[in-house]
Amino acid sequence: MKFAKSILFLGVILGMALACQRALSDAAHQYIPQKSAVAANSMVVTPHALATRAGLDVLKQGGNAVDATIAVHFAMAVVFPRAGNLGGGGFMVIRLGNGATDALDYREKAPASAHRDMYLDSLGNVIKGLSTDGHLAAGTPGTVAGLIAAHQKYGKLDFKKLLEPAIRLAEEGFPVSGAEADRLNSFQSAFRKFNAAPNPFLKDNWTAGDRLVQKELARTLRLIRDKGLTGFYAGETADEIVAEMHSGGGIVSHEDLKNYQAKWRKPLIGQYKDYKVISMPPSSSGGVALLQLLKMVEPFPLRQWGFQSKEAVHVMAEASRRVYADRSQYLGDSDFFPVPIDSLLNDRYLLKRMADFNASKATSSEAVGAGNFKISMESFETEHTSVVDAYGNAVSVTTTLNSNYGCKVWVDGAGFFLNNEMDDFSVKPGVPNQFGLVGAEANAIQPHKRMLSSMTPTIVEKEGKLFMVLGTPGGSTIITTVFQVFLNVAEFGMDLEKAVNAGRFHHQWLPDLIMTERGAFNPATRQALEGMGHRFQEVERIAVIKAILKLPDGRLHGVGDFRNPDDDARGE
Ligand code: DON
Repeated sequence: MKFAKSILFLGVILGMALACQRALSDAAHQYIPQKSAVAANSMVVTPHALATRAGLDVLKQGGNAVDATIAVHFAMAVVFPRAGNLGGGGFMVIRLGNGATDALDYREKAPASAHRDMYLDSLGNVIKGLSTDGHLAAGTPGTVAGLIAAHQKYGKLDFKKLLEPAIRLAEEGFPVSGAEADRLNSFQSAFRKFNAAPNPFLKDNWTAGDRLVQKELARTLRLIRDKGLTGFYAGETADEIVAEMHSGGGIVSHEDLKNYQAKWRKPLIGQYKDYKVISMPPSSSGGVALLQLLKMVEPFPLRQWGFQSKEAVHVMAEASRRVYADRSQYLGDSDFFPVPIDSLLNDRYLLKRMADFNASKATSSEAVGAGNFKISMESFETEHTSVVDAYGNAVSVTTTLNSNYGCKVWVDGAGFFLNNEMDDFSVKPGVPNQFGLVGAEANAIQPHKRMLSSMTPTIVEKEGKLFMVLGTPGGSTIITTVFQVFLNVAEFGMDLEKAVNAGRFHHQWLPDLIMTERGAFNPATRQALEGMGHRFQEVERIAVIKAILKLPDGRLHGVGDFRNPDDDARGE
């Protein structure tokens, strides 16, 4: 009896000690997102406070903006599993304190055995869901190769150090936010459909504060820490990815993983009035489209017309209509298709493209088509991070699994979700993808090719100095959102918080309508535009910007978007 009592007593003490340890650990992981911050030296803006903190800690240890971005990226793979990733890809634009610029493409690639018609049935019709859900929707992941390439070229701190916060968060767990809990609840049936093995995400009812522990992911992160590229693209992790593929009809192979390489590219740079805009070249369409949009509206008196005036919205929507028509025809992976970047950004071409712009009438998208110039033709969750460090280096990076939790396949043993990026290819000419985007030959599926993206990580200079760092998730709306938030500051005189939180609209050629955020678009403007022939569709929200602005006194203003409750800006 006495013995049983002692055991019970010991049990209670042990339980209390464990609870205490957990409470302490939770306290260390507590986070209250902060939407806006002003700081003298450095700034990190991410979609999750725990990731922001990982980035700031790296900066405090003497790391630079690239180091901080890498730590954020790995931490996001743990705390923001719907888009943060090891199983996806992304784009990074860098501007160093000395003004030098660079761009890194670590977009996923089509596996070697992918082919043009792989999502079509025998009659040539698209098989619904095949390019978006399940194993066959996954491209070869690029994130780990990208982060390692970024570190090799620009890293200052030991790579191993940069993975520590992520490993700790995966190993010990962290309390999920309300937004993540909601998202997890709405994808339970998809998780069950595409995953035979148990995983940490399967649970009947997630609520804010529930602890998410990811032991398998911690193990994979340790392998990457200790072995670098081979910790992911070879050995156990590669075996687990390939085994997962075999279990569900996926096609990413050992060869695909071994051959994956991130690619340094020349950033796209264009001028808008006093601003130099530095953005991402293909395989993203973001930079080309953003620079086209800016050049097309530059001759018009936007400032005088004012924010959400009918004239400003009309010209911006008409420019978008033409730009997205060009995107569908000419944009794709420039390693596979001769994307006519110089022609698309040629001043005279863009002037000509707007020549049929009618100031009082909407053009029909049918009439617009893609622009005409002579070329030789051989032929819904993402995350963005903006960082500025004390040395004046800036990084703008957007990464994604494409949809929430990608293709919903969690790699058994390795502990992460795989992307469903194959849907960003044009799976059949003229058939819209999940963002309503259409494409053709330029973005047709080919082995090893990168699927076209809209991600637009961007850095802006004014008079030779760093001015702004920005980017966002949002599929096809990414480009028009970066465009609008920049103009909100540069033309409409808003401070950054106002610029990010202001209502937005979007036009992408097809479907032929202006999408607006419910309750956030001036009704009088809408009425006037309807009178000019525009049609409207309301949506809950358009994109989720994370931006940093250099203030005239030299301080940095970081802003996360009110549209994502977890967005977080912090500086030092
Ligand atoms: O690369 C692209 O353009 C898309 N895969 C991005 C997806 C996205 O932003 C979804 N998020 N809201």
